[in-house]
Amino acid sequence: MGNFLAGKVIAVTGAGRGIGRAVALACAEQGARVIVNDYGVAIDGGGPSSEVAEAVVKEIEAAGKTASAVADDVSTMAGGQRIVDTALAQYGRIDGVVCVAGILRERMLFNMSEEEWDPVIATHLKGTFTVFRAASAVMRRQGSGTLLGFTSGNHQGSVSQANYASAKGGVISLVRSAALGLHKYGVTANAVAPVARTRMSANVPMELTEIGEPEDVAALVVYLLSDRAREITGQVYTVAGPKIAVWAQPRELRSVHADGGGWTPERVAEALPGSVGADPMPMLARVAEMAAAADAGARPNV
Ligand SMILES: NC(=O)c1ccc[n+]([C@@H]2O[C@H](COP(=O)([O-])OP(=O)(O)OC[C@H]3O[C@@H](n4cnc5c(N)ncnc54)[C@H](O)[C@@H]3O)[C@@H](O)[C@H]2O)c1
Repeated sequence: MGNFLAGKVIAVTGAGRGIGRAVALACAEQGARVIVNDYGVAIDGGGPSSEVAEAVVKEIEAAGKTASAVADDVSTMAGGQRIVDTALAQYGRIDGVVCVAGILRERMLFNMSEEEWDPVIATHLKGTFTVFRAASAVMRRQGSGTLLGFTSGNHQGSVSQANYASAKGGVISLVRSAALGLHKYGVTANAVAPVARTRMSANVPMELTEIGEPEDVAALVVYLLSDRAREITGQVYTVAGPKIAVWAQPRELRSVHADGGGWTPERVAEALPGSVGADPMPMLARVAEMAAAADAGARPNV
């Protein structure tokens, strides 16, 4: 038992299973009162049930700690608001929100339907917005608070999960926007890209070589929620078992300026290749290798 989060109130979405559950348990263990949110759905988002959130609350209470369940859908404004309102009603404040809830609907882009695109964006990206929106209004008045989004290494792009990769890229931009917009109110925002053994990672079509347990992710999340991390904002951290890595901030790599008269396609064609060029895409190099392994019936290594 530690005291990284003594006196704090933390809400965790998707906290009924996998990484969210480990985060909720670790927050309680470290002294926080916890709002356990989970819509209790299948991996594709179907078949909601309130039981999974309640089961984690019982686990926390059995350990002598304090938690409340909210079984709402984070992709609705009312759901995000209820999570924050429950924290205020039960415990009088909200110090941190951790948006872990997620689903998968895998399909190649050229076959992807609206029913596969919309719920994935709604759960990951809007489901982070709804909670950040409600929490940030309270944290701004409080003059403190931590917003944590969950992204993925897949924000770099994905062969068969364009919906998921787009949502995860969006989460990073949302986190950076929150970091910029709330800095002067003492509120921080960061993103975590985990790799951990859960039902979701068991579903990916490749062998993950760098992987750990949900508890590894929970340790990083507890630290980021604590006062020890008050200066950290606008960051994206990968945690994969024993490895923690920070991602670079996006920045321009090389540039060229049109001298007089502006750009025409002809001038771009002359200037761009030799000066600005292109930045090699690391994921592209892996695609052929992965396709060959899949054709041979193996789960390619990543
Ligand atoms: N496991 C990994 O290796 C990995 C890798 C990259 C990113 N992630 C991300 O980490 C997060 C957690 O993943 P996990 O592996 O623990 O998945 P998981 O499937 O084990 O748990 C996700 C939980 O979210 C809940 N949920 C889904 N939709 C919801 C909604 N609309 N409202 C509230 N709850 C909802 C589910 O009921 C489930 O309990 C996800 O955002 C995922 O994209 C995981």
